[in-house]
Amino acid sequence: GARRYFVGGNWKCNGALEFNKFLIEDVINKLEFDPAKVDVIVAPTTLHIAMAKVMVADNVKVASQNVSLYGTGAYTGEIAAEQLTDFGIEWVIIGHSERRALYGEANETVGTKVSNALEAGLNVILCIGETLEQRESNSTNDVLKEQLDACKESVKDWSKVVIAYEPVWAIGTGKVATPEQAQETHAYIRQWMAENVSEEVGAATRIIYGGSVNDKNCGDLINQSEIDGFLVGGASLKLAFQKIVSTAS
Ligand code: G3H
Repeated sequence: GARRYFVGGNWKCNGALEFNKFLIEDVINKLEFDPAKVDVIVAPTTLHIAMAKVMVADNVKVASQNVSLYGTGAYTGEIAAEQLTDFGIEWVIIGHSERRALYGEANETVGTKVSNALEAGLNVILCIGETLEQRESNSTNDVLKEQLDACKESVKDWSKVVIAYEPVWAIGTGKVATPEQAQETHAYIRQWMAENVSEEVGAATRIIYGGSVNDKNCGDLINQSEIDGFLVGGASLKLAFQKIVSTAS
């Protein structure tokens, strides 16, 4: 496609020293892909970022799964954006539905985090998506619009942002969006960009799909013109991740 593909592995709160060693040595470092055609990113827990950064091959970037709402200072338990960039981390996932639902991250919080992260020099994987109830009541586009609107002022340079469309009902459920559903929703997101940023930025921004992506369904999804890659949860903890990356390269 016109846009470089992007595949991220979000390990969520999984992994431990031995398992990560396996994942990095036997899965990540044996990936076959052309870095000119696809960006590959892996996001371990904050505790395991350092180990991953030392161990992963040069063509794979390590991302943080979260970033503090604030800068450095008296914020126990947090990691600030400038600490991530200081450490050589280039990417951060912001607004994942688990953070929104379980840790009360409202759209405004997500917008502020995006702004802080970009100002510190990070690249952002911005996650948006609707619940099943919202999809069934036909409010998907409204929900996505609100999530995107909240980040509009935060982004000066959209080339630093990848949008991950992750329908909440598809995350960790084994119930993947159909290629048509994803295509249609990605097209709406691109339309939002054309209307709110510019046609050019809309055409250039990577929009990736997340939610029960595996080695079996990734092929049909990547064939959709609006799908520029994946954010993978469960399957990123398995050899299946190799197939997913090679499908997108
Ligand atoms: O960030 C990844 C998504 O939440 C997808 O997770 O592939 O386990 O459904 P999943």
